[in-house]
Amino acid sequence: MKKALITGITGQDGSYLAELLLEKGYKVYGLRRRTATPNFENIKHLENEIEFISGDLRDLTSLTEAVKATKPDEVYNLAAQSFVGDSWRQPIYTSEVTGLGVTNILEAIRLSKRDARFYQASSSEMFGKVVETPQKETTPFYPRSPYGVAKVYGHWITVNYRESYDMYACSGILFNHESPRRGIEFVTRKVTDAVTKIKLGLQDKLHLGNLDAKRDWGFAGDYVEAMWLMLQQEEPDDYVIATGETHTVKELVEIAFQHVGLNYQDYVVQDPQFVRPAEVDILLGDPSKAKHKLGWESKVSFEDLVKMMVDSDLAKNKGQ
Ligand code: NAP
Ligand code: GDD
Repeated sequence: MKKALITGITGQDGSYLAELLLEKGYKVYGLRRRTATPNFENIKHLENEIEFISGDLRDLTSLTEAVKATKPDEVYNLAAQSFVGDSWRQPIYTSEVTGLGVTNILEAIRLSKRDARFYQASSSEMFGKVVETPQKETTPFYPRSPYGVAKVYGHWITVNYRESYDMYACSGILFNHESPRRGIEFVTRKVTDAVTKIKLGLQDKLHLGNLDAKRDWGFAGDYVEAMWLMLQQEEPDDYVIATGETHTVKELVEIAFQHVGLNYQDYVVQDPQFVRPAEVDILLGDPSKAKHKLGWESKVSFEDLVKMMVDSDLAKNKGQ
């Protein structure tokens, strides 16, 4: 039986990846940091199938112990301070977790189980102020946030460990991916939650920042399969994972409101507090390498994704 260690198990991607690996017959270990109150919402249904290990990406001792205790065949490093907006408010913390944390987990593997295959959750946010469109594996990085800068560090240290120690280490450059399990502060979920609360008479207005930003949005359930595929190849490599389509925040808002029979113009308020100090104006990925080499393609369309999230939030906010 193959063994996988997932950091970030309580997050959106951790929960979908755990489902996928359990379906494939893996023994799944999840690294979980201590919290005062449980934050199990995404993995409650898997609680009895995952073995949890206590640890923090900033604490090398805990990571080394986790790798020693589990002897994993595969390690998926999904843990991060992943909210771009907060990375300006907590730049040092973000660097420590999202950047240096990658070296910690790589060191834990190098010292305790060097043949474990490693996946690093890199990000399209590294392309930032894009120098070409669409963005592909060879597009130079130009990060625009402390989060983006930390991810560039995590990306290159992964490449460096592959080249220095001959480790099987891959970096997946994933474009935005969403789901009903998305954190509430990210724009898709903020919108679908608010739309349904407005529909139910529980909220009056929706305050947003830049409506013109463009993102390449896919479904998280599709994207975790690409992570697994990357670790099943003969040689480790880096891949862009994206839909190949881009949409504005305004389009997202229009579809979400329309789906419950409302007009967004009656409810959306532009609010400077949600405008970022530096913006990533457009992300559009070219997933052709992933299609050609991994046989991977995004399946859920943008419109179906938004509707899926609205339907899920409607049920949640009705208390169902
Ligand atoms: P998420 O929902 O924010 O989950 C982040 C996970 O990291 C949570 O389980 C969190 O635990 C954990 N974590 C945070 N700080 C930690 C620390 N110091 N030590 C150990 N665990 C820690 O993120 P996601 O959307 O699933 O994304 C997964 C990864 O992919 C992240 O690295 C993200 O940056 C990257 N990524 C995401 C996207 C996207 O569109 N979703 C795109 C590209 C790359 P708690 O529950 O305890 O907070
Ligand atoms: N969160 C948020 N809240 N974003 C808003 C708002 C708002 O009220 N109004 C407009 N936006 C715009 C942001 O300025 C940004 O251009 C876009 O909506 C998407 O914001 P987020 O959903 O917060 O995601 P992100 O693109 O910054 O980052 C996500 O994707 C990255 C991959 O490109 C995160 O998942 C990162 O962890 C991930 O690496």
